Amino acid sequence: VAFSKEFYDGRWEQANIPIKMRGFRIKDYKPVSNSGGVAALKAQDFIDDFSNRFISDNRAAAGDLPEDRSRIGQGMMLLGPNGTRKTTLGIAVLTELQYISLSYRGFYIRFSEWQRCLTDTYSKDNSARITTAKKMLALAEFMPIVLLDDLGQEYRTASGFTRDKFNEFLRVRYDAARPTIVTTNEDPDSIREIYGKSLDSFRHDAFGEPIQLLGRDSRKPGRN
Ligand SMILES: Nc1ncnc2c1ncn2[C@@H]1O[C@H](COP(=O)(O)OP(=O)(O)O)[C@@H](O)[C@H]1O
Ligand SMILES: [Mg+2]
Repeated sequence: VAFSKEFYDGRWEQANIPIKMRGFRIKDYKPVSNSGGVAALKAQDFIDDFSNRFISDNRAAAGDLPEDRSRIGQGMMLLGPNGTRKTTLGIAVLTELQYISLSYRGFYIRFSEWQRCLTDTYSKDNSARITTAKKMLALAEFMPIVLLDDLGQEYRTASGFTRDKFNEFLRVRYDAARPTIVTTNEDPDSIREIYGKSLDSFRHDAFGEPIQLLGRDSRKPGRN
């Protein structure tokens, strides 16, 4: 079944995809390094394998699980310096999945925004803000595929409360067989340090092997 352009425009809007990136697909992705090319292939594998990772409520109720359960709930971690096109690749994955199935609804949110929403739900005097924040947090919790972009600096400085909430957020999604994609410019060692012991172990379940993107910052002018 083909759907109209307007239908998809509405989908990107609901998924909170940055306007510049709407409709951006894997075939549009231009890696800036060999590792970026490898990452794009892994991203395609992830898309092809999505039915072994996301289990809808209907499937779960019907006991319709894959024979190999090892990747149920498992997302992806895209890791590398700024400008290696991690966000671009993550969004391409979100977009492809939404072209594959109506039930593969996606949601994009920067980690800093997720964190702000969390704080906003505790603000005392602004009910409109609380409502919006709760709505965003609910989408991030319940959408079948979520891209949590740019986990890093904010996480480092986050309070124990934010960490606990974030840890819980990832585990709830994982247990409900809803994969999460994260991007980060932290190296694996600092990841270990900033995540703390519990999340450092759990991240192997939640994301599998991190996918590394290397290379120069493609935002800066110069050789391409
Ligand atoms: N296919 C492309 N053609 C031109 N520019 C691109 C392409 N893909 C990504 N870019 C640009 O490269 C820059 C860095 O990409 P981004 O995904 O934001 O990197 P990261 O998330 O790793 O910091 C952005 O300005 C983006 O618009
Ligand atoms: Mg980015």
